[in-house]
Amino acid sequence: MASLVDAVTRSRVWRSFFRHGFPDNPLDRSLVMTTNIFFHLHPVKVNLKSLKVTYSFGLGVITVFLFVTLAITGTLLMFYYVPSVERSYGDIVILQTQVPFGQLFRNLHRWGAHLMVLAAVLHMARVFYTGAYKPPREFNWGVGVVLLILTLGASFTGYLLPWDQLSFWAITVGTSIASYEPLMGATIKKILLGGPEVGQDALTRFYALHIMVIPAFLALLIALHIWRVRKDGGLAANET
Ligand code: HEM
Repeated sequence: MASLVDAVTRSRVWRSFFRHGFPDNPLDRSLVMTTNIFFHLHPVKVNLKSLKVTYSFGLGVITVFLFVTLAITGTLLMFYYVPSVERSYGDIVILQTQVPFGQLFRNLHRWGAHLMVLAAVLHMARVFYTGAYKPPREFNWGVGVVLLILTLGASFTGYLLPWDQLSFWAITVGTSIASYEPLMGATIKKILLGGPEVGQDALTRFYALHIMVIPAFLALLIALHIWRVRKDGGLAANET
């Protein structure tokens, strides 16, 4: 049997698919990890402690999962939603009452957004509690802070889109608070709203930020964040 496995793993066909022998020794096991497009995201070796659910509670992975869910459900909502002060509110009502599974996808998107903020904050608390922000991971902590700000930005910009009373007044209050920022306050408000008050220009800007700008930066920075986890030697538990 052993010689058959040996013969297969040495054959040209096997070698054309896999650049390693049968993974029954440390070298071939390492090669399995480094030559596979999916596995190479993981370090070659991990400490058992870092695999314990109670170390990270998988909160970072849960946040990534929620981001992907939001991207998918958000794309589906875009098929029925038009960012216009005349249409937006009606589009949401139609989506909820007449579009098959419309209410389900809207609710998945809304609950997913709340949960993503919660998961990112809990993940940050876990990283702090386990001291995983310390060198060499301080850069990734910084990336995490930007990710949290972007996540909050996605929630804030999405809030205006249903164009109901709650959205209108929440964004009116939110942008008024932003205008009290010293030096840049008035400019920030103007950039966000595109005019003196919440209207069509604000809706257009919030829509562009919500469906394109913020998700693009989130996707890019999540990739950087996970790559950094890999390059910093996996989770911090590996070092203790
Ligand atoms: C969109 C938000 C975020 C996503 C999608 C995300 C994703 C992840 C993932 C998948 C991991 C590895 C596995 C895990 O710990 O569960 C991780 C680790 C890490 N994250 Fe985040 N993260 C986010 C926000 C943050 C925030 C807000 C911070 C802190 C300010 C942060 C700092 C870190 C650090 C330092 C690590 C390495 C942890 C260790 O070595 O134990 N991340 N992140």
